[in-house]
Amino acid sequence: MELTPKIIERVLRDGELELLGRMAWSSNATFLVTASLDGIDVSAVYKPRRGERPLWDFADGTLCEREVATYELSEVLGWGLIPTTVLRDGPYGVGMVQRFVDHDPEEHYFTLLETHADVMRQFAIFDVLANNADRKGGHCLLERGTDDIWGIDHGLTFHEESKLRTVIWDFAGEEVADAMCADVEALVTDLDGPRCSELRGLLAPNEIEALYARSIGLMRMPSLPIPNEGYKSVPWPLI
Ligand SMILES: Nc1ncnc2c1ncn2[C@@H]1O[C@H](COP(=O)(O)OP(=O)(O)O)[C@@H](O)[C@H]1O
Ligand SMILES: [Mg+2]
Repeated sequence: MELTPKIIERVLRDGELELLGRMAWSSNATFLVTASLDGIDVSAVYKPRRGERPLWDFADGTLCEREVATYELSEVLGWGLIPTTVLRDGPYGVGMVQRFVDHDPEEHYFTLLETHADVMRQFAIFDVLANNADRKGGHCLLERGTDDIWGIDHGLTFHEESKLRTVIWDFAGEEVADAMCADVEALVTDLDGPRCSELRGLLAPNEIEALYARSIGLMRMPSLPIPNEGYKSVPWPLI
């Protein structure tokens, strides 16, 4: 049977989670799990709220909601940039569960930029909207056996203050294509409607306001920002 996005979402949301191990090099507790439902297994990453390292600028225990919110934003835009991500209970309590993307860890933004420039440009626009404060090179994965690039690790997003910090500056100053602007316009129109109810439930009202403001800003001035001097516009490490 073909695993459609709908089936994958149901298995991730309602399936039984089996812990397989902890991911190396993660700053928050990140586990590899299998979600199983009705004989269907889906590999996934599970980041429990309880395993989140406190930060000075983001409210404690909110990173898992932000991860799911970036998935919702990508879906509302119709951009399909983020693997299916849900918020649910798990072996270590509530957390985010995201489809595991099989990939070659030697490939990342810097090795993939030339061959996948269009989707990387789309990530640049997406990160402006999501206000991504941590787009490292290793957060763009090429799914093995496909030509699809997926974004991961979106805990540091949707802060109400400007915090764009990314390695994707190759498109700085470029105009945003009309088709992308149309998607952003649809987002603005729907932000207080039923299509965005999940998204609204994951973020604070002031963060939704800020998303609205960023979206309007992009529509009025449809070009990709240039790095802000005096602010650390690039994350460390780069990958
Ligand atoms: N959806 C995913 N598919 C495949 N690998 C993932 C996925 N999410 C995370 N990983 C792997 O787990 C590692 C740690 O996850 P990450 O989201 O970076 O956690 P942290 O919040 O600690 O930075 C990543 O570097 C990546 O190798
Ligand atoms: Mg990380």
